[in-house]
Amino acid sequence: MNFLIFHIGSLATAFIAMSSAIVIARFFKSKKWWIKAHKALNLAAVLFALAGFVFAFLMVQSSGGPHIRVPHAILGLSTLILLLLMPVLGQAIFKIRDKKKIPVLKKAHRYAGRLTAAMFTATILAGLLLIGIL
Ligand code: HEM
Ligand code: HEM
Repeated sequence: MNFLIFHIGSLATAFIAMSSAIVIARFFKSKKWWIKAHKALNLAAVLFALAGFVFAFLMVQSSGGPHIRVPHAILGLSTLILLLLMPVLGQAIFKIRDKKKIPVLKKAHRYAGRLTAAMFTATILAGLLLIGIL
C-alpha cells in the first residue's frame, strides 16, 4: 500500500482545516458562528493529523525503520504534540475559574497557535525536501 499518498493527503487536509480555523479567529470574530467553526475545524485538523501520523508510522515501519530518524520526522512529531495541546489551551479560556487570567490564556493560545502553524509549514517544507520536490 502506498502510505505516502495517505500521509500527505491526511496532513494536507489537516493543514487546510487548521489554517481556515485560524483565518476565522483572526478575521471573522464579528460573526456569531466564529467559535463553533474555529473549534470544529481545529478538531478535524487534530483528527486528520493523527491519521497522517499513523500513515507515516506505517510507512516507516514497512520500509524497516528506524522511526523518527530524519529532521522532518522530529519537526512533524513536535508539531503533532503542539497541535494536541492547543485545544486544551483553547478550552481553558472558557473553563478557568479565575476570570482575571483569561487575557493571559488568550494571549498564550494566540501565540502558541501561530507557532503551531509555523511549525506545520516547516514540517511540510522538510517533507517536500525529503521526497525531492523542493
Ligand atoms: C507534503 C508534506 C509531507 C511529505 C512529502 C512527507 C513525507 C514524509 C516521508 C517521505 C517520510 C518518511 C521518512 C523516513 O523514511 O524516515 C515521512 C515521515 C514522517 N512524517 Fe511526513 N511528510 C509530509 C508532511 C508531514 C506533516 C505535516 C507532518 C506532521 C505534522 C509529518 C510527520 C511525519 C512524521 C512524524 C514522520 C516519521 C514517522 C516515523 O518515523 O515513524 N509529515 N514524511
Ligand atoms: C489545534 C487547535 C487550535 C489551534 C491551532 C488554534 C489556533 C488559534 C490561533 C492562531 C488564534 C489567534 C488568531 C489571531 O487572532 O491571530 C486562536 C484564537 C482563539 N482560539 Fe484557537 N486554536 C485551536 C483550538 C481552539 C479551541 C478548541 C478553542 C476553544 C475551545 C479555541 C478558542 C480560541 C479563542 C477563544 C480564540 C480568540 C482568542 C483571543 O481573543 O485572542 N481554539 N486560535
